[in-house]
Amino acid sequence: MRSVIIAANWKMHKTIMEAEDFIDRLKKEEDKLPSAQLVICAPYITLPVLSASLENLQVSLGAQNMHWAKEGAYTGEISPLMLRELGIRYVIVGHSERRLYFKEDNQMINYKVLAAFEYGLTPILCIGETEAERRGRRTADVIERQLREALRDVPQEAIRNLIVAYEPVWAIGSGNPASGEDANRVAHLIREIIGTLYSEEDASRMRVQYGGSVKADNIGEFMRYADIDGALVGGASLEVSSFLPLIREGVAAKEANS
Ligand code: 13P
Repeated sequence: MRSVIIAANWKMHKTIMEAEDFIDRLKKEEDKLPSAQLVICAPYITLPVLSASLENLQVSLGAQNMHWAKEGAYTGEISPLMLRELGIRYVIVGHSERRLYFKEDNQMINYKVLAAFEYGLTPILCIGETEAERRGRRTADVIERQLREALRDVPQEAIRNLIVAYEPVWAIGSGNPASGEDANRVAHLIREIIGTLYSEEDASRMRVQYGGSVKADNIGEFMRYADIDGALVGGASLEVSSFLPLIREGVAAKEANS
């Protein structure tokens, strides 16, 4: 059985003080945290502080991006080595906001996935179609291409540690999530593609999240489906008062349906 993994993507939110405040509040509610893998992907600058203050909590830290090189003349970038030294375990790669606003393409995303594995970080690889692609019924093609290109040269022994987040671009921050059925259809397709590129066993072991307007009152709609193991959450992860109920609902829905 795959374990549930729910990740917060704080995006460009929270100063160091605000991040500390979040953790203080979370610690007060610690006894209400169900057992699941929880990850907070926070802005780089807050990671050192969070890594110290999360010590006794069952929450891991992730970055939202990184460069693929170990070091070099790349002004403004952060390397996988730097993240690893901080004890960071996860890194979001290929988020649609990075594809759109920072012109990341599948080739760059592929380098980042390779670098993440090389440095012992678990990549949360984001893929998903735009509204126009959805309307043009190109979702399956887009997903297949994004996966194939992002995973080029990724060795078989690494692949079961991969996490893929299916995030339809039109669902992000829109308050208009995909239906559970549609999300699960794509999650299933992702496993089929991994099964073709690697093996059935790898496909059944790697985890797939859904992301895009996930809230406490809709996460159950995704988690009840077999191919969805968790969620990547933006807006609703910013406050403990919205994130904690979301985690609880998500875990409960998976337990009720497994
Ligand atoms: P929202 O949950 O705010 O829609 O954001 C989803 C997302 O982009 C997570 O990476």
